[in-house]
Amino acid sequence: MNTTKASHGQWSSRFGFILAATGSAVGLGNIWKFPYMTGVSGGSAFVLTYLLCITLIGVPILIMEWLIGRRAQQNPIQAMEFVARQEGRSPAWKVLGFVGILGAFLILSFYSVIGGWALDYLFLTGSGTFQGMTGKETGAVFEGFLANAGSLMLWHTVFMGLTVWIVAMGVTTGLERASRIMMPGLALVLLILVGYAAVATDSFGRAAAFLFTPDWSAINGQVVLAALGHAFFTLSLGMGIMTAYGAYLGKEVNLLSTARTVVILDTTIALMAGMAIFPLVFAHNLEPSSGPGLIFVTLPIAFGNMTGGTVLGALFFVLLSFAALTSSMSLLEPVVALVEERTSLGRKSAAVTAGVVIWLLGVASLLSFNHWSEIQILGNNIFDFLDKLTSKFMLPLTGLGIIIFAGWFMNQEKIRQELGLEGTAYLIWSLVSRFVAPLAVIAVFISMLLG
Ligand code: TRP
Repeated sequence: MNTTKASHGQWSSRFGFILAATGSAVGLGNIWKFPYMTGVSGGSAFVLTYLLCITLIGVPILIMEWLIGRRAQQNPIQAMEFVARQEGRSPAWKVLGFVGILGAFLILSFYSVIGGWALDYLFLTGSGTFQGMTGKETGAVFEGFLANAGSLMLWHTVFMGLTVWIVAMGVTTGLERASRIMMPGLALVLLILVGYAAVATDSFGRAAAFLFTPDWSAINGQVVLAALGHAFFTLSLGMGIMTAYGAYLGKEVNLLSTARTVVILDTTIALMAGMAIFPLVFAHNLEPSSGPGLIFVTLPIAFGNMTGGTVLGALFFVLLSFAALTSSMSLLEPVVALVEERTSLGRKSAAVTAGVVIWLLGVASLLSFNHWSEIQILGNNIFDFLDKLTSKFMLPLTGLGIIIFAGWFMNQEKIRQELGLEGTAYLIWSLVSRFVAPLAVIAVFISMLLG
């Protein structure tokens, strides 16, 4: 089955759909970003707010993106326009689709840089670079790595090239088939790493406390906004990607239970990454708040000091690169679909053109780790600026637009039927989707403006 567009088919099964949606959701967000954001934002306060944001805001928006896509059976921009017209509303709602695609474009530029790190670490780990290293030493390797703009550029180019190749060839089907093995594989390797952290360090309890002991005093507007933004990022929300996937979904699929499965898988992977990484952070006296390099400094310590670590480490970075690719192709797809539709370019040229422009922006991001580290936009380097602009503003705002549209501009009875909800379940759905979710997002923005 082809997941590209226009003459599209349907997902072969509910299972195939879950796989593709999970493939988009599970990526660098879970294993690279979640742990480092947790470290930067002070631990449990961030984790608990994030879990709350996922359940009360992420889930309803995920369901509505799928529902809108399924109803319209078209690309995200036209889907918004179609459903808006169907509901007797202004077609201008399609602007949400446009902003979403712009966001996908920006996210992919820095996502590819980190995907490149994963590829490079695959070779570093596999060649035994980290044998017997301490945390100080792996940290030094990482710093040297960041300073070398040429090699960052090489790996960013390879990652972007792979993404373009997959999307241009429309080989998503093969990739999805491969995910059936790769995703459980990733979960398994993470499990081994959690086991290693539990056995080989004495900091497992401390890490669990850091991640889960509620410390509500540590919560402030910034932490909540970061958690909200990450809830969107990790579920691939707010850019029409899930709408696009919903367009290939059959009427008989139960959106609620499917959402539950995808969200549980996504969250479990993120929490496992946290429990693999933080025991190492504490045991080796590393800084939890060290930022984007966290997994690249901590995990090599485990790989360098355990039996079979070289092979397991290489395997881990293969699986991580793979998870990153199933996400990056979901980011490129809508951009390519738009270019293809609005210009005379065919699919392959559209993919290459979009890829080159995104790649260029990515180069600016990777230079901000070395030669351009002084260049600041509103107090952030280029990489941080793009990350914050998308995660903290664009994703939550488009998500807010979708949930307000769904809760206040669409026929609720029809939604009730499409979701198959009755009685109390429907009452809860209404309360959450019409009040809790939109008000929570608005409250976060207001508190941030005031704080
Ligand atoms: N969810 C992916 C991750 O966690 C990243 C991603 C893919 C994404 N598609 C997206 C983020 C769409 C936001 C919007 O790595």
